[in-house]
Amino acid sequence: MPGKFITFEGGEGCGKSTQLALLKEYLQKRGQNVVATKEPGGTEIGLELRHLLVTGDKDKMDAVAEALLYYADRRIHMSQKVWPALEAGQWVLSDRFADSTVAYQYYGYDKKVDKKLLDSLYQIAVGDFKPDLTLIFDLDVEVGLARSYAKAAGMTEKETRHESRGTAFHQRLRQGFLEIAKRDPARCIVLDADKSIEDLHQDVIRIITERFGLV
Ligand code: TMP
Repeated sequence: MPGKFITFEGGEGCGKSTQLALLKEYLQKRGQNVVATKEPGGTEIGLELRHLLVTGDKDKMDAVAEALLYYADRRIHMSQKVWPALEAGQWVLSDRFADSTVAYQYYGYDKKVDKKLLDSLYQIAVGDFKPDLTLIFDLDVEVGLARSYAKAAGMTEKETRHESRGTAFHQRLRQGFLEIAKRDPARCIVLDADKSIEDLHQDVIRIITERFGLV
């Protein structure tokens, strides 16, 4: 595909959304066409799925049901928004993608879900397509959760369904993201997210420049 697909991943409150917005601004200033999007919720139907997935009681559905709904969101997102933008030569920056399903629904749930199910869902919904680059923002779990709850305090409908799973779940998913990066080093780069917003932004720019040349 002529465009570039970059995914931003990490645990709660890791700063990836702020970094995505800064990279979008950086690329746009250099005359690039950029689409900033997210999962779940990058499309109209996706926003309805997001509401089901991230609000309410943590036990209202199990990990398999969650994976199916995240993949329904992903399929719609890819076919309605991501692939058309990439075909048009745009940069697509996505706040989360399939690594989040592996980190949350597989590692977070202590590998109780069959990994083959998640691999099959990927194949069905996304096929052989992969992101050009995945940035994984690694941060201490307690620091991230505190940030995330502080942000949610200002929301009328709290998007804290996964935050409420407790520290052990979040420790497992943090390790899960690191494992994902270790298994696919050509695609994934882990960033130390315990830095100022500006320092982290400079790290992101350096990686983008090294990977794709001067923009
Ligand atoms: P966000 O808060 O970063 O927008 O992400 C929404 C929540 O959904 C967050 O708690 C992570 C979770 N999530 C999964 O559990 N599995 C997934 O596949 C995705 C994309 C997100």
